[in-house]
Amino acid sequence: MNQVHRRIKLKNHQNKSQIHTHKSFIINIPKIFKFAIIGESFMQVTASAPGKAILFGEHAVVYGKPAIAVAVNKKAYVTVQKREDERIHVDIKDLKLSGYIDPENNEIEIESRENSKKGILNYVLSAVKMVHGSAQGMEIQINLDIPIGAGLGSSAAVTVATIAAVSKFNNMNLSKDEIAEYAHDVELEVQGAASRIDTTLSTYGGVIYLSKNAEDIVPLEINWNIPLVIGCTQDRGNTGELVESVRLKREGYPEVLNPILNAVEALTNDAVISLQKKDEKKIGELMNINQGLLDAMGVNTTELSRMIYLARKSGAKGSKITGAGGGGSIIAYCPGKIEEVTSNLNTIEKAFNVEISKEGVRIEVND
Ligand code: PMV
Repeated sequence: MNQVHRRIKLKNHQNKSQIHTHKSFIINIPKIFKFAIIGESFMQVTASAPGKAILFGEHAVVYGKPAIAVAVNKKAYVTVQKREDERIHVDIKDLKLSGYIDPENNEIEIESRENSKKGILNYVLSAVKMVHGSAQGMEIQINLDIPIGAGLGSSAAVTVATIAAVSKFNNMNLSKDEIAEYAHDVELEVQGAASRIDTTLSTYGGVIYLSKNAEDIVPLEINWNIPLVIGCTQDRGNTGELVESVRLKREGYPEVLNPILNAVEALTNDAVISLQKKDEKKIGELMNINQGLLDAMGVNTTELSRMIYLARKSGAKGSKITGAGGGGSIIAYCPGKIEEVTSNLNTIEKAFNVEISKEGVRIEVND
């Protein structure tokens, strides 16, 4: 991997706190950080952060094998403005979800109707708590062009953009390293466990190679635009349950599953070289092999399979599940065939072209 230009060695993180979610959806998160706010806050700050897609190695990465993931140009946008009162109001129009968050009392008060996506507000509250130390009221507007719960890193993108926007609004100049660190802390707090894949890509953008249980993250220099199409099924796979199902399968059939995980490792390492050489045929074949192995792990579904084969029939050189599977999304590698693959997949599910987002989190100030 001679083209690797930067290496981030990441330290181990302990889960800092327990979250108690009550029926009324009031959550309780112990305070972790308190910042002194220096000077006046800005009038309006907007931050954006990209989502992600895993190209190779999902599930195997849980067992210390490598994976390759990319930041995609589907983003979360968070705009913060002053309010006259001291309350913090959050509005996510794309989800028809709005309410007040109270960092002092660790409470979320939802004003919209019952909403299955309300969990995203846990991330917003936890992110605000990290970087909000003043009594200044805020209006937080969130716009999303990443589908929620599709394995495309929407919660990390919202977390990173919220930390970036609220910190800047409060006159703090956080480095990208600090934003990534706080975002990872938020994911640990809200989810109990989290790898750094999503928060790293939302913060820094680009392409990454992960190894050793995702504690070692290496940016990859890929100097061409990988033509990718994402297709999202209606079903939402539960990552925790799918990881557990693979663990049980490995426990039940170690002599079958371990060679499968080793094969994923080998193909992922081959894929690094193929991506760097832009070897279209090999990239596609390796994706298809990876898909076969994910199927063998038991994380495929009929809907995912339909899209995977339709993408190949429409001209994709490779297609596979991206992320945990069991629902969620597929990714197809489509040199010269983006239009065909996208429109054919759109006849059965929602599909769109994505490009690699070289840029990670971005902040704009309107004073
Ligand atoms: O559900 P997603 O898209 O965030 O993907 C999870 C990827 C796994 O390898 C299955 C789990 C993990 O933590 O790496």
